[in-house]
Amino acid sequence: MEKPFIRVTGLKKHYQMGGATVRALDGVDLEIMPNTFTVVMGPSGSGKSTLLYLLGGLDRATSGELSVGDQSLTGMDENQLALFRRRTMGFVFQSFNLVPSMTALENVAFPMQFAGVTSAQRSQKARQLLEQVGLSDRADHRPTELSGGQQQRVAIARALVNDPSVILADEPTGNLDTSSGAAVMQLLADLHGSGRTVLVVTHDPRMMRFATHQIYLLDGRVVSEAEYQSAVLESVQN
Ligand SMILES: Nc1ncnc2c1ncn2[C@@H]1O[C@H](COP(=O)(O)OP(=O)(O)OP(=O)(O)O)[C@@H](O)[C@H]1O
Ligand SMILES: [Mg+2]
Repeated sequence: MEKPFIRVTGLKKHYQMGGATVRALDGVDLEIMPNTFTVVMGPSGSGKSTLLYLLGGLDRATSGELSVGDQSLTGMDENQLALFRRRTMGFVFQSFNLVPSMTALENVAFPMQFAGVTSAQRSQKARQLLEQVGLSDRADHRPTELSGGQQQRVAIARALVNDPSVILADEPTGNLDTSSGAAVMQLLADLHGSGRTVLVVTHDPRMMRFATHQIYLLDGRVVSEAEYQSAVLESVQN
Protein backbone atom coordinates (compact mmCIF):
# COMPACT_ATOMS: atom_id res chain seq x y z
CA MET A 1 0.00 0.00 0.00
CA GLU A 2 1.20 3.43 -0.92
CA LYS A 3 1.61 5.87 1.96
CA PRO A 4 -0.13 9.26 2.10
CA PHE A 5 2.15 12.06 0.97
CA ILE A 6 0.43 14.77 2.97
CA ARG A 7 -1.00 14.10 6.42
CA VAL A 8 -3.04 16.61 8.38
CA THR A 9 -4.30 15.81 11.86
CA GLY A 10 -6.50 18.00 14.05
CA LEU A 11 -5.33 21.11 12.25
CA LYS A 12 -6.58 24.38 13.71
CA LYS A 13 -5.98 27.98 12.80
CA HIS A 14 -7.67 30.43 15.13
CA TYR A 15 -7.46 34.22 15.08
CA GLN A 16 -8.18 36.41 18.10
CA MET A 17 -10.13 39.44 16.96
CA GLY A 18 -10.86 41.70 19.89
CA GLY A 19 -12.81 39.45 22.23
CA ALA A 20 -13.89 37.00 19.54
CA THR A 21 -12.16 33.91 18.15
CA VAL A 22 -12.30 33.34 14.39
CA ARG A 23 -11.98 29.62 13.71
CA ALA A 24 -10.58 29.71 10.18
CA LEU A 25 -9.71 26.00 10.47
CA ASP A 26 -11.28 24.06 13.27
CA GLY A 27 -9.89 20.54 13.36
CA VAL A 28 -9.07 19.34 9.87
CA ASP A 29 -7.96 15.75 9.21
CA LEU A 30 -6.73 14.83 5.75
CA GLU A 31 -4.60 12.30 3.95
CA ILE A 32 -3.47 13.05 0.44
CA MET A 33 -1.81 10.37 -1.63
CA PRO A 34 1.15 11.15 -3.89
CA ASN A 35 0.47 12.11 -7.49
CA THR A 36 -3.17 12.99 -6.91
CA PHE A 37 -5.14 16.00 -8.14
CA THR A 38 -7.31 17.33 -5.32
CA VAL A 39 -9.90 20.03 -5.76
CA VAL A 40 -10.79 21.96 -2.59
CA MET A 41 -14.26 23.47 -2.50
CA GLY A 42 -16.16 25.53 0.00
CA PRO A 43 -18.04 28.80 0.40
CA SER A 44 -16.24 32.10 0.94
CA GLY A 45 -14.68 32.19 4.39
CA SER A 46 -14.73 28.41 4.86
CA GLY A 47 -10.95 28.20 5.26
CA LYS A 48 -9.73 27.13 1.82
CA SER A 49 -6.91 29.65 1.50
CA THR A 50 -5.95 29.15 5.13
CA LEU A 51 -5.57 25.41 4.50
CA LEU A 52 -3.37 25.99 1.45
CA TYR A 53 -1.22 28.51 3.33
CA LEU A 54 -0.64 26.10 6.20
CA LEU A 55 0.10 23.19 3.86
CA GLY A 56 2.61 25.33 2.03
CA GLY A 57 4.38 26.47 5.18
CA LEU A 58 3.46 30.11 4.51
CA ASP A 59 1.75 30.36 7.86
CA ARG A 60 1.71 28.42 11.10
CA ALA A 61 -1.11 26.46 12.63
CA THR A 62 -2.56 27.22 16.06
CA SER A 63 -2.48 23.50 16.80
CA GLY A 64 -2.49 20.14 15.07
CA GLU A 65 -0.04 18.14 12.99
CA LEU A 66 1.02 18.63 9.42
CA SER A 67 3.51 16.56 7.46
CA VAL A 68 4.57 16.43 3.84
CA GLY A 69 6.59 13.44 2.69
CA ASP A 70 8.70 12.57 5.72
CA GLN A 71 8.88 16.18 6.91
CA SER A 72 6.83 17.38 9.86
CA LEU A 73 6.12 21.08 9.48
CA THR A 74 5.04 21.59 13.05
CA GLY A 75 8.49 21.39 14.59
CA MET A 76 10.32 23.41 11.93
CA ASP A 77 11.98 26.73 12.71
CA GLU A 78 11.74 29.65 10.24
CA ASN A 79 14.83 28.60 8.26
CA GLN A 80 13.70 25.03 7.89
CA LEU A 81 10.25 26.22 6.86
CA ALA A 82 11.73 28.56 4.24
CA LEU A 83 13.81 25.71 2.84
CA PHE A 84 10.75 23.44 2.81
CA ARG A 85 8.73 26.04 0.89
CA ARG A 86 11.47 26.52 -1.65
CA ARG A 87 12.24 22.84 -2.23
CA THR A 88 8.89 21.15 -1.98
CA MET A 89 6.12 23.63 -2.75
CA GLY A 90 5.06 25.57 -5.82
CA PHE A 91 2.43 28.27 -5.31
CA VAL A 92 0.01 29.74 -7.80
CA PHE A 93 -2.33 32.50 -6.62
CA GLN A 94 -5.49 34.05 -7.99
CA SER A 95 -3.76 37.39 -8.53
CA PHE A 96 -0.64 36.33 -10.31
CA ASN A 97 1.78 38.17 -7.97
CA LEU A 98 4.31 38.95 -10.68
CA VAL A 99 6.84 41.74 -10.22
CA PRO A 100 5.61 44.53 -12.56
CA SER A 101 9.05 45.92 -13.41
CA MET A 102 10.43 42.55 -14.48
CA THR A 103 9.98 40.75 -17.78
CA ALA A 104 8.36 37.31 -17.92
CA LEU A 105 11.83 35.74 -18.09
CA GLU A 106 13.08 37.73 -15.09
CA ASN A 107 9.98 36.89 -13.07
CA VAL A 108 10.53 33.19 -13.64
CA ALA A 109 14.29 33.39 -13.02
CA PHE A 110 13.93 35.48 -9.87
CA PRO A 111 13.35 32.72 -7.25
CA MET A 112 16.49 30.93 -8.44
CA GLN A 113 18.62 33.80 -7.13
CA PHE A 114 18.48 32.18 -3.75
CA ALA A 115 19.42 28.73 -4.95
CA GLY A 116 23.07 29.36 -5.81
CA VAL A 117 22.58 29.17 -9.57
CA THR A 118 24.54 31.31 -12.05
CA SER A 119 22.76 34.01 -14.01
CA ALA A 120 23.22 32.12 -17.29
CA GLN A 121 21.79 28.95 -15.79
CA ARG A 122 18.85 30.90 -14.39
CA SER A 123 18.00 32.36 -17.78
CA GLN A 124 18.31 29.02 -19.49
CA LYS A 125 16.03 27.31 -16.98
CA ALA A 126 13.53 30.20 -17.12
CA ARG A 127 13.40 29.97 -20.92
CA GLN A 128 12.80 26.26 -20.75
CA LEU A 129 9.94 26.77 -18.27
CA LEU A 130 8.38 29.53 -20.37
CA GLU A 131 8.50 27.15 -23.31
CA GLN A 132 6.77 24.50 -21.20
CA VAL A 133 3.86 26.89 -20.52
CA GLY A 134 3.74 27.97 -24.18
CA LEU A 135 5.18 31.45 -23.77
CA SER A 136 8.58 31.31 -25.48
CA ASP A 137 7.62 34.29 -27.62
CA ARG A 138 6.66 36.47 -24.62
CA ALA A 139 9.86 36.15 -22.56
CA ASP A 140 10.68 39.86 -22.84
CA HIS A 141 7.19 41.15 -22.06
CA ARG A 142 6.41 42.77 -18.73
CA PRO A 143 3.24 41.69 -16.91
CA THR A 144 1.24 44.70 -18.22
CA GLU A 145 2.17 43.59 -21.74
CA LEU A 146 0.64 40.14 -21.19
CA SER A 147 -2.95 38.91 -21.05
CA GLY A 148 -4.31 37.60 -17.75
CA GLY A 149 -3.99 34.00 -18.89
CA GLN A 150 -0.42 34.59 -20.02
CA GLN A 151 0.44 36.21 -16.68
CA GLN A 152 -0.93 33.20 -14.87
CA ARG A 153 1.12 30.87 -17.04
CA VAL A 154 4.24 32.91 -16.17
CA ALA A 155 3.30 32.51 -12.51
CA ILE A 156 3.00 28.74 -13.01
CA ALA A 157 6.40 28.65 -14.73
CA ARG A 158 7.82 30.53 -11.74
CA ALA A 159 6.22 28.04 -9.35
CA LEU A 160 8.06 25.23 -11.17
CA VAL A 161 11.52 26.73 -10.87
CA ASN A 162 12.70 24.52 -8.03
CA ASP A 163 10.92 21.44 -9.36
CA PRO A 164 8.44 21.17 -6.48
CA SER A 165 6.71 17.89 -5.76
CA VAL A 166 3.54 19.71 -4.68
CA ILE A 167 1.68 22.45 -6.56
CA LEU A 168 -0.75 24.52 -4.47
CA ALA A 169 -3.07 26.75 -6.50
CA ASP A 170 -5.58 29.16 -4.93
CA GLU A 171 -8.31 29.97 -7.46
CA PRO A 172 -5.80 30.05 -10.31
CA THR A 173 -8.51 30.68 -12.89
CA GLY A 174 -10.54 33.13 -10.79
CA ASN A 175 -9.38 36.18 -12.72
CA LEU A 176 -9.34 34.59 -16.15
CA ASP A 177 -11.74 34.39 -19.07
CA THR A 178 -13.05 30.98 -20.13
CA SER A 179 -10.41 30.02 -22.65
CA SER A 180 -7.41 31.33 -20.67
CA GLY A 181 -8.81 29.47 -17.68
CA ALA A 182 -9.01 26.26 -19.68
CA ALA A 183 -5.34 26.59 -20.70
CA VAL A 184 -4.27 27.08 -17.09
CA MET A 185 -6.34 24.07 -15.98
CA GLN A 186 -4.77 21.93 -18.68
CA LEU A 187 -1.34 23.03 -17.50
CA LEU A 188 -2.16 21.97 -13.94
CA ALA A 189 -3.47 18.66 -15.26
CA ASP A 190 -0.21 18.16 -17.17
CA LEU A 191 1.76 18.80 -13.97
CA HIS A 192 -0.28 16.12 -12.27
CA GLY A 193 0.39 13.89 -15.27
CA SER A 194 4.12 14.41 -14.83
CA GLY A 195 3.99 13.07 -11.29
CA ARG A 196 3.27 16.08 -9.10
CA THR A 197 0.73 16.23 -6.33
CA VAL A 198 -1.68 19.06 -7.13
CA LEU A 199 -4.13 20.82 -4.80
CA VAL A 200 -6.41 23.43 -6.31
CA VAL A 201 -8.94 25.69 -4.63
CA THR A 202 -11.54 26.47 -7.26
CA HIS A 203 -15.17 27.32 -7.89
CA ASP A 204 -14.79 26.27 -11.50
CA PRO A 205 -16.79 23.09 -12.23
CA ARG A 206 -14.60 22.40 -15.28
CA MET A 207 -11.71 21.61 -12.94
CA MET A 208 -13.62 18.52 -11.72
CA ARG A 209 -12.73 16.73 -14.94
CA PHE A 210 -9.12 16.62 -13.80
CA ALA A 211 -9.74 15.88 -10.13
CA THR A 212 -8.88 12.51 -8.65
CA HIS A 213 -10.12 13.65 -5.22
CA GLN A 214 -12.35 16.36 -3.75
CA ILE A 215 -12.32 18.06 -0.37
CA TYR A 216 -15.31 20.02 0.88
CA LEU A 217 -14.88 22.65 3.59
CA LEU A 218 -17.61 24.25 5.68
CA ASP A 219 -16.77 26.63 8.54
CA GLY A 220 -13.21 25.40 8.87
CA ARG A 221 -14.07 21.71 8.82
CA VAL A 222 -13.92 18.97 6.21
CA VAL A 223 -17.38 17.60 5.44
CA SER A 224 -18.78 14.92 3.13
CA GLU A 225 -20.01 15.77 -0.34
CA ALA A 226 -23.60 15.11 0.78
CA GLU A 227 -23.28 17.48 3.74
CA TYR A 228 -21.71 20.07 1.51
CA GLN A 229 -24.39 19.80 -1.16
CA SER A 230 -27.23 20.11 1.33
CA ALA A 231 -25.58 23.13 3.03
CA VAL A 232 -25.09 24.84 -0.33
CA LEU A 233 -28.67 24.06 -1.32
CA GLU A 234 -29.94 25.43 1.97
CA SER A 235 -28.00 28.69 1.55
CA VAL A 236 -29.54 29.13 -1.91
CA GLN A 237 -33.07 28.56 -0.60
CA ASN A 238 -32.68 31.01 2.31
N1 LIG B 1 -5.41 37.27 9.24
C1 LIG B 1 -6.67 37.00 9.63
N2 LIG B 1 -7.17 37.50 10.76
C2 LIG B 1 -8.42 37.21 11.17
N3 LIG B 1 -9.27 36.42 10.50
C3 LIG B 1 -8.83 35.88 9.35
C4 LIG B 1 -7.52 36.14 8.85
N4 LIG B 1 -7.36 35.47 7.68
C5 LIG B 1 -8.52 34.83 7.46
N5 LIG B 1 -9.42 35.09 8.44
C6 LIG B 1 -10.77 34.52 8.55
O1 LIG B 1 -10.68 33.13 8.45
C7 LIG B 1 -11.74 32.59 7.69
C8 LIG B 1 -11.22 31.73 6.56
O2 LIG B 1 -10.56 32.57 5.61
P1 LIG B 1 -10.02 32.02 4.22
O3 LIG B 1 -9.29 33.11 3.57
O4 LIG B 1 -9.28 30.76 4.47
O5 LIG B 1 -11.39 31.69 3.46
P2 LIG B 1 -11.60 31.13 1.97
O6 LIG B 1 -12.35 29.85 2.09
O7 LIG B 1 -10.31 31.11 1.24
O8 LIG B 1 -12.60 32.23 1.35
P3 LIG B 1 -12.67 32.86 -0.14
O9 LIG B 1 -13.42 31.87 -0.99
O10 LIG B 1 -13.48 34.10 0.06
O11 LIG B 1 -11.28 33.12 -0.61
C9 LIG B 1 -12.58 33.79 7.23
O12 LIG B 1 -13.70 33.90 8.05
C10 LIG B 1 -11.66 34.97 7.41
O13 LIG B 1 -12.39 36.13 7.73
MG1 LIG C 1 -9.54 32.19 -0.37
